[in-house]
Formats: sequence, C-alpha cells, structure tokens
Amino acid sequence: MIVHHPPFTIYQFAVLGSTNDVLKQMTEAPEFTCVVAGEQTAGRGRRDRVWHSSPGDGLYLSVLLRPATTSAKAPAKIPLLSLMTAVAVAETVRERGVRGVDIKWPNDVLVNERKLSGILIESGSTGAGETRVIVGIGVNLNHPSFPEELGQTATSMKIELGQAVAVDEFRNQLLSRLGRWYEHWKRGEDTAILGRWRQLSSYACGQRIIVTLDHEQFTGETAGLTDDGALLVRTADGGWRTVLSGEVKRLRKSDVD
Ligand code: BTN
Repeated sequence: MIVHHPPFTIYQFAVLGSTNDVLKQMTEAPEFTCVVAGEQTAGRGRRDRVWHSSPGDGLYLSVLLRPATTSAKAPAKIPLLSLMTAVAVAETVRERGVRGVDIKWPNDVLVNERKLSGILIESGSTGAGETRVIVGIGVNLNHPSFPEELGQTATSMKIELGQAVAVDEFRNQLLSRLGRWYEHWKRGEDTAILGRWRQLSSYACGQRIIVTLDHEQFTGETAGLTDDGALLVRTADGGWRTVLSGEVKRLRKSDVD
C-alpha cells in the first residue's frame, strides 16, 4: 500500500526483513521515500544488534534523505541528522503526554531510563554531489511487555501511557516533525538543532558516563557537544575526549563503588 503524507511517500508492507535494507535497494527512489513494515524479521540496530520487531507493536520506519553535499562542510553535518531525528522522536513522544523522556547520546530516546526508540542512520555518496541517507527509526508503541532479555531495559508507549497508540497516526506526527527539523538542517540552522537536543537530553552536560569504543572503554563527565554533534567528555585523568561514535552509558554510584 502507498500512502502520501507530503512531502513523504510511504510504502507500507506487512512483513519485511529490515526497512533499512529494502529502502537501500530502492536506488532510484526520490528524497522523502519511506518504507514502513508492520513486522521485521531481520530488524537491525546499531553495533550489529537485533531490533526487536514484533508484529503490529512498533513503528518500523525508514526514510530516504538526499541532502546535497556540494559545500565542503556538508559531510560533517551528517551526524547532526542523527541528533535531529532523536529530537523529532522525543518531541513526538512528549506531545503524546509521556513524562520522563530523555535522549541518550547520540540518538536513543529513553523514558525513565528505559529505551523507547532507536535510530540507525546509514549513508553513502551517490557520486553526484549528493549523499543518500537512510534514517531508520524504531519506536516501541504497543508492546505490552518485552522478552526477558529486554525486560529491564526497554519500554513502550503503551506501558508508559496505559493505552494503545495508533501506529499510523504516530508515524504521521513523527514524519511531520522530522520534515520540519530537516528544513532547519538544510538551512544550516545547526545551533537550533543542537540547542533543542541539549534541552531534551540529560546527557549533554555534567553526566558521569562510561564510553565504549571498538577497542577501548573510558569513563568521564559529559561537557557539551561540538558543532558537529560529537560528545565532549572530560576524562577521569583530566583530559578531553571527543566522541564521534560509540556507546555511552550513565555511570551510577553503584558502578564505581
Ligand atoms: C538502535 O537503537 O540500535 C537502532 C535501532 C533501529 C531500528 C530501526 S527499525 C526500522 C529500521 N530498520 C531496521 O532494520 N532498523 C531500523
């Protein structure tokens, strides 16, 4: 089924492997093409994780953006798309009346410390002064509960609100916000995106964290974002680190005792 929600054109499927993978194969698709599935059999997360994608419970959505990359600064701005997407999700969730919404750097949306939404951005150059960016968004909407391994770390809108959420309605609200934030991004209004991210995230400043990189782990305190959306961390030995990609976890007192 095809649904139009301008400027987005949504291809809705009952079951797919991964919406990101299907959109990736649609090489000629125009900007704002979306693929949505009622269920994913091979939903993927960051760092090769599986994204739990049970039928009818979640929003499993991928959006194609084709930002022009002619200016020298443009490629560096791709990470800002990831922060911008988290802002759009967090705002949509808050608009629905959920309390305790937070963004964990770079783009996990949490509610009272449990994960509600994850974002997987995959990009590649088309060689025509353009980058193809696939913004994959998973939001837990109507999961009544989660498998045991996720039980302590995941939540859904239904668990938080005590009532079901219409998936299509949520999808359209989210797309509208995403479209508006993308306009800011295209106009180079980076400070508006960074500012809104900081407002919505408790991780922006003064948060004790442990950072996991591919071959290294370190602890420190968050000290803001760079203009490109990287996380600045003051390390335990008094140094500074700029985290461009990696996994961040809040350090609790019990973790250091
Ligand atoms: C993460 O938190 O690790 C990112 C999860 C991203 C999941 C979404 S669901 C729609 C899209 N298709 C996928 O296979 N993954 C993303």
